[in-house]
Order: sequence, then C-alpha cells, then structure tokens
Amino acid sequence: MLGFHGRTALVTGGSRGIGRAIAARLAEMGADLVVNYVRHRKDAEETAAMVGKAGRRCVLVKANVAVQADVEQLMEVARLEFGKLDFLISNAASGVFKPALELTERHWNWAMDINARALLTLVQKALPLMPPGSRVIAVSSLGAVRAIENYTTVGASKAALESLARHLAVELGPRGIHVNTISAGAVDTDALKHFPNREQILSAAIQRTPLGRLTTPEDVADIAVFLCGELSKMVQGQVITVDGGYAIRG
Ligand SMILES: NC(=O)c1ccc[n+]([C@@H]2O[C@H](COP(=O)([O-])OP(=O)(O)OC[C@H]3O[C@@H](n4cnc5c(N)ncnc54)[C@H](OP(=O)(O)O)[C@@H]3O)[C@@H](O)[C@H]2O)c1
Repeated sequence: MLGFHGRTALVTGGSRGIGRAIAARLAEMGADLVVNYVRHRKDAEETAAMVGKAGRRCVLVKANVAVQADVEQLMEVARLEFGKLDFLISNAASGVFKPALELTERHWNWAMDINARALLTLVQKALPLMPPGSRVIAVSSLGAVRAIENYTTVGASKAALESLARHLAVELGPRGIHVNTISAGAVDTDALKHFPNREQILSAAIQRTPLGRLTTPEDVADIAVFLCGELSKMVQGQVITVDGGYAIRG
C-alpha cells in the first residue's frame, strides 16, 4: 500500500537540504527520480548517489525553475526518460534576506518568480505527464503566515505559493490530481546561512518548539511520503505544518 515502485518523482532543488532528503526518501520507497538543480552539479551528484544506493534511477537536470524554457526542457527529459510523472515536488527556493525597506523591485521579482510563479509553470508543463492519482506538493515555510525578520520577499512569495496551491487543488482535483503544501519550521540547511541572525533563529526555534528540537530535512520528507501515498487519498488543498509545534505557541 505504501510502496512507490514504478512511480517517478521530480524534485526541484533536489540537490541539497530538504529536497535531497525528499528525493532520498522517495527512492527508498521505490520511486525513480528526476532531480533538478540550478548551479551546484556536485551536490546534485551526491543526491543521485543516494538514490542509486536505494537501487533506483536518478536523472539530473540543470534548470532554473523561474525560466519557462528551462521548465519545458526539464519536463522533456522526464518524458523521454520515464514517460510520466507521478509526483511533482516543487521545493526549490531562493530569496534576498534584507529589511523590507531595503528591498528593490529586482529582489521582489527574484523571490516571487522562483518561489511562487515556478509552481504554476511546473504544473502547466507537467500536466500532460501526470496520470490520475498523481501528486503535486509545494514546499512552504511558516513565513507565509508570520512576520520573520529579513524574510519579507520569501514570506510574501510563500503566501502566494500556498494560495496558488489551493487554487490548483480545486482545478486539478477533478482530474484526480492531489495538490498540497508542506510548511516547515526552521531546518538547519544551507538556506539558513543567508540569515544574518542564523544562530539566534536556531536557538530560539529549539527553545520555542514543544517537541524540543529542530525540524530536520527527514521530518519534512516523511510528510512528503505521506502526501504521495494512498493514506492521504482524501487530503486536498491543505497546508500540512511540520515544525514540532513551534507555530502554535503564541
Ligand atoms: N531551511 C529552512 O529552514 C526551511 C524552512 C521551511 C521551508 N523551507 C523550504 O524548503 C525548501 C528547500 O529549502 P532548503 O533549506 O533545503 O534550501 P537550500 O538548502 O538552500 O537548497 C535550495 C535548493 O534549491 C535549488 N534552487 C535554488 N534556486 C533555484 C532555481 N531558480 N531553479 C532550480 N533550483 C533552484 C538549489 O540548487 P543549487 O544548489 O544548484 O543552487 C538547491 O537544490 C524551500 O522551498 C524552502 O523555502 C526551508
């Protein structure tokens, strides 16, 4: 009931951090992988090695998810290599970490294009490959609904992402395609290195979290496995939070 043998997953930004953990977990469950990255091939190769270790196939594709032609090429590789796509995990993200009053139009568009608009392009281009029962998962963060210092562009783009996922869930539901979002608490990946106050974020997160530790990439990957599997068959258009209870504290 829980195995993913014969299924194909695409993980954008699957070369590092949370995306890598999701790719590795889906491979352990039996799925073959298309792993996308944009700059760091070496990291992507490490993910491919993890997938290979699980006995599954992994194809690496360099593509900027904010560029339509790149996404078209990404889907073409998926079509040629596997012929279909069962799981589309929109995980890649980027952003400029500055106080709101220092942000420029370019900073805003950068985050919106990579973090929010990319999901729309990915879904539009992937749809011909996705059979009924397929899953689309967007990866978001608590910044979609909370104000976090220096996080304005990413927070606003994640709010747009979550709204877009709900609209897609309504439109794609009748085709048998599930669309949901995972929202994670602070996870100690390379992404946090961009924060001037990284140490403070991490220690405050541990202190505030009822379950007493940081969320790991593997915690997020476990929710992705749930959302890809049969046990989530009536879950649609939801944001599932994985943060050890951090966000429920006032
Ligand atoms: N870390 C956290 O605390 C946290 C918390 C909640 C939610 N999240 C979300 O979880 C997701 C993964 O975060 P992470 O912390 O694992 O990030 P990360 O370690 O910074 O990795 C980012 C990944 O995205 C790829 N990427 C960046 N821009 C891209 C683009 N334009 N096109 C294609 N790929 C691109 C990177 O590829 P290259 O290496 O080639 O650049 C890399 O694989 C993001 O959506 C993030 O917002 C993170």
